[in-house]
Amino acid sequence: MNKVEIFIANESHFDYAQEICSVIETSAKDRGTGIAKRTPEYIEKKIKAGNAVIALNGNEFAGFCYIEAWSHGKYVAHSGLIVHPNFRKQGLAKRIKEFIFNYSLEKYPEAKIFGITTGLAVMKINSKLGYKPVTFSELTDDPKFWAGCQTCTNFEILKSKDYKMCMCTGMLYNPKDNVEESNSNLEPEPWFKEKILKRLKRIKQRMLK
Ligand SMILES: CC(C)(COP(=O)(O)OP(=O)(O)OC[C@H]1O[C@@H](n2cnc3c(N)ncnc32)[C@H](O)[C@@H]1OP(=O)(O)O)[C@@H](O)C(=O)NCCC(=O)NCCS
Repeated sequence: MNKVEIFIANESHFDYAQEICSVIETSAKDRGTGIAKRTPEYIEKKIKAGNAVIALNGNEFAGFCYIEAWSHGKYVAHSGLIVHPNFRKQGLAKRIKEFIFNYSLEKYPEAKIFGITTGLAVMKINSKLGYKPVTFSELTDDPKFWAGCQTCTNFEILKSKDYKMCMCTGMLYNPKDNVEESNSNLEPEPWFKEKILKRLKRIKQRMLK
């Protein structure tokens, strides 16, 4: 078996765009959770701009994630994180997130990095990278970012809560608050308590649905 390697994606990786979208969509259906839909054209646009990373096992697709800049580059988000089911639970998402995190700090050194997710794995990885949970009001107010939620099954909840809360948790990394280099081998930050977050998710499901 080849070793999975992570690259900044380029046009030679366009052929993977369809598979990336299919795995994202199937995984969301399997989890029964909402996720923003992506098209192959959108993935190709991200790749072309040098804003995507891809993980490959030889020629076999293993994982993907891309950067989006919002509010005129004041914020960046890492979106579309996906690990192919054959490569899960081997630390690959953690490697991809670390890679894209360091890459975007180089590319957008002034930007705050944020994400929204319902996924505990992503919350755990982000907590180790130094992200903090925040309310949606601390994230970008760029309408184009929130428009991306329209294809999520939870969009009606977000709308009914006036874009102030939803099933996702908002997380923010401010480079100005984190002068020391992040190290994902550290313990998760104290805010990451798996049991509590699972409970919170259940409460939100009951209250918001
Ligand atoms: C979520 C996903 C990216 C995780 O990928 P992965 O390569 O299996 O994750 P890793 O092996 O790097 O695990 C990272 C950490 O999260 C934990 N983790 C992984 N899956 C988990 C789960 N379902 N629930 C709770 N914790 C989980 C791991 O134990 C690990 O913790 P550690 O650092 O203490 O060892 C993958 O399951 C996936 O692609 N899912 C579908 C798409 C998705 O949910 N994307 C995220 C959208 S925001």
